[in-house]
Amino acid sequence: MTISTLTITRPDDWHLHLRDGEALEAVVGHSARQFARAIVMPNLKPPVTTTEQALAYRERILAALRKGGAQASSFTPLMTLYLTDNTDPEEILRARDSGAVHAVKLYPAGATTNSDAGVTDLLGRCARVLETMEKVGMPLLAHGEVTDPAIDVFDREKVFIDRVMMPLRRAFPALKVVFEHITTADAAQYVRDAEGPIAATITPQHLLYNRNALFQGGMRPHWYCLPVLKRETHRQALVEVATSGNPRFFLGTDSAPHARGLKEHACGCAGCFTGLHAMALYATAFEAAGKLDALEAFASFHGPDFYGLPRNTGTLRLEREAFSIPDELPFGQQTIVPLAGGETLPWRVST
Ligand code: NCD
Ligand code: ZN
Repeated sequence: MTISTLTITRPDDWHLHLRDGEALEAVVGHSARQFARAIVMPNLKPPVTTTEQALAYRERILAALRKGGAQASSFTPLMTLYLTDNTDPEEILRARDSGAVHAVKLYPAGATTNSDAGVTDLLGRCARVLETMEKVGMPLLAHGEVTDPAIDVFDREKVFIDRVMMPLRRAFPALKVVFEHITTADAAQYVRDAEGPIAATITPQHLLYNRNALFQGGMRPHWYCLPVLKRETHRQALVEVATSGNPRFFLGTDSAPHARGLKEHACGCAGCFTGLHAMALYATAFEAAGKLDALEAFASFHGPDFYGLPRNTGTLRLEREAFSIPDELPFGQQTIVPLAGGETLPWRVST
């Protein structure tokens, strides 16, 4: 029997890039239409490294929502700090006291878009900060890839587990850690079986596609993100854990908009834009696995439970009705291409 509507508790996005300025104004409404809250990534230029900057960024997000005609109260940005080699432990206390900053993001220096200011040696440089985070219950969100150029790009997540994640969690066993946008069976198994407070976010693209999607009929830059899509066995392992009901796995789109010209480029930017149609993409992936009934817990329960926040009270309705993904959308003076633009999804979000 196929169902035609699915009503779930309003979901949250636990990993989102909203950018700033015109780009922010162009994308924030899409997320607000689907999600009640989002963990907002701090990789602006310059990065958001202090509570003061995070609170100012939060105000710009709320102003962009109002400008777009949304009720600012209908969407809550949950702010994060960008960890650097020089982050002061006092900054963690200020973040905690603000009530608006909910996590600290680890970008290994050079791992991805705007990560130049990232951490060069986590345990060597950030031990006091990590100790404070562990003490006050502030989660560390890890971009889990090593940056060693000698390591094959498809192996960087697996090697991160051995070189960074395991030593980190041995040193700080009570630190809450989210292994962000996992892409491999190795990370899925690690998070499933590890001791202590660890969880992982999973994007829609890593549930729907394997690395063949990057090369289907030619080079397709809009399928390029970091960590890069992996082989089919990894995709299947991610679907398995995402749909398993295990509370350690929850929704994080990693929607990462870049102007069309910077994606279709000799050195194209990493990032898939899924802010428009994230919930339709996830519903498509869960249904393909025969696990539509597991979507609500993944999208709406496991995230707030891990972060120690209340679950949302509203609902979101999805309808089985063809949704044609637009070829492009306005993005300030430029345009942006949504993931799988021009294709049709079997689900859409009700308006
Ligand atoms: C992100 C971005 O563009 O900010 N890109 C991406 O491919 N995911 C950065 C990140 O989260 O790695
Ligand atoms: Zn990201």
